[in-house]
Amino acid sequence: MRAWDPDLVLLTGDVSEDASASSYARVAVRLGTLGAPVLALPGNHDDPEVMKQHFPLGPWDGPGVFELDPWLIMGLDSTGPGKISGVFSQHDLERFDASMRGSNSEHILVALHHQPVPVNSPWIDRYALEEPERFLAYLDREKRVRCVAWGHVHHAFSSDRNGVSFLGAPSSVANSLPEKRKFTLDLAGPSCRWMELGDDGAVKTGVMQRV
Ligand SMILES: [Fe+2]
Repeated sequence: MRAWDPDLVLLTGDVSEDASASSYARVAVRLGTLGAPVLALPGNHDDPEVMKQHFPLGPWDGPGVFELDPWLIMGLDSTGPGKISGVFSQHDLERFDASMRGSNSEHILVALHHQPVPVNSPWIDRYALEEPERFLAYLDREKRVRCVAWGHVHHAFSSDRNGVSFLGAPSSVANSLPEKRKFTLDLAGPSCRWMELGDDGAVKTGVMQRV
């Protein structure tokens, strides 16, 4: 990541296993040395109340937003108390929609923790975003959305949905081989997704391994 010299680090959730303050502090300090802003959103293992103390830029009171002209990067909180799968209330979706409509950015990237489409891995598709069609309906109405990105699934995933890039990021801790019925450790180890967001709305992306 340091060699990549990112303009923004997007943390797509499950930043901590135990949601301890010390674990968030450790990640925040390490990422702070990159010199790039960090937009963080919570996953099912996180405690948003603790996490937000260490990652001020995030969906702590409505969507977390970061402008990278001509792009708007949005981070949403798809977690629910005590839930492994993802959930958005109607209020969440309306605030998401209002944030998009209130932006003048030409292109929008939407990030959340839970996959809004199946990733073909039954062990984690059991815990996808619930009622994804409610979320997808808002995406379909907003023609500036170019990319939807998530974590949670522990392997890289990419697909195209109506011209929008749908991207699952691998884990920076432990990954599974894709399309397995059970979690099957990928011995290639930790990795993360890089993205280049073009001025024309194009998204170039790939996966980088730990070196
Ligand atoms: Fe997760």
